[in-house]
Amino acid sequence: MRPGVPLEPGVVQQVLGAWVLAERREPGEVEVTLGEAERALLAEMPWPLRRCEWLAGRRVAKRLLQQAMGFEPSRTQVLPLESGAPRVSFDGVPRTDLVINLSHTKGWAVAAVAPSRVGIDVCDDVDGERIARIARRVFSEGEAEACGAFASRETQAAVWALKEAGLKLFIGGVFDPGARAIRVESLTPPRVVAQPAMQVALLRLPDAALAVSRDA
Ligand SMILES: CC(C)(COP(=O)(O)OP(=O)(O)OC[C@H]1O[C@@H](n2cnc3c(N)ncnc32)[C@H](O)[C@@H]1OP(=O)(O)O)[C@@H](O)C(=O)NCCC(=O)NCCS
Repeated sequence: MRPGVPLEPGVVQQVLGAWVLAERREPGEVEVTLGEAERALLAEMPWPLRRCEWLAGRRVAKRLLQQAMGFEPSRTQVLPLESGAPRVSFDGVPRTDLVINLSHTKGWAVAAVAPSRVGIDVCDDVDGERIARIARRVFSEGEAEACGAFASRETQAAVWALKEAGLKLFIGGVFDPGARAIRVESLTPPRVVAQPAMQVALLRLPDAALAVSRDA
């Protein structure tokens, strides 16, 4: 079972009223125009894998902002808030009228931008199986059985992406309250129960699940 609506990689699309872009990761450190504050952050990042994923995230976010909103990459920065959540600034001014979120895996870099809160998460199918190892921590009683979480690798990836996208909607609250706070009721159609209420979309990349969350 491979739940989710196919999403075309490399093409900006609207999902739940947010603009979304998914790009395949390229090996190594990708080329992306960085602003001063972004360059300073990168200079402090010693770990090669972290540098690569961070750059892939900036690139997909800036491409999305350029294509969806006409933001020139050289005037745009995507910088972390204290919580780690990303925020857009244009010409050095934080754009509090926009919310951006992003996610990266070995295979993909994805971003979503909207005028109000949005969460996005991608989970490679090969990593979906991780959820079985932490099942007790992330599922509530009966949840996994009811939504068919363990039907396949793809359903596991889908559940993971839905829970993470849901958690990211609460900017600053990813670890508290934790993955149990997002109860996945169904994968087809995608439906979660959380407080405050949220709507979710489940999309399918060739070898990964992608989820988007918005306030209901
Ligand atoms: C911190 C966390 C965001 C990392 O997520 P991840 O899956 O390892 O990585 P992703 O690539 O999907 O997301 C990372 C991006 O989320 C964004 N992010 C970080 N903190 C965030 C927050 N508090 N709120 C919203 N977005 C956040 C950042 O843009 C980050 O990328 P960047 O630092 O390169 O800019 C968080 O989701 C996490 O580790 N949660 C664990 C919770 C858990 O138990 N999950 C089980 C899943 S069922």
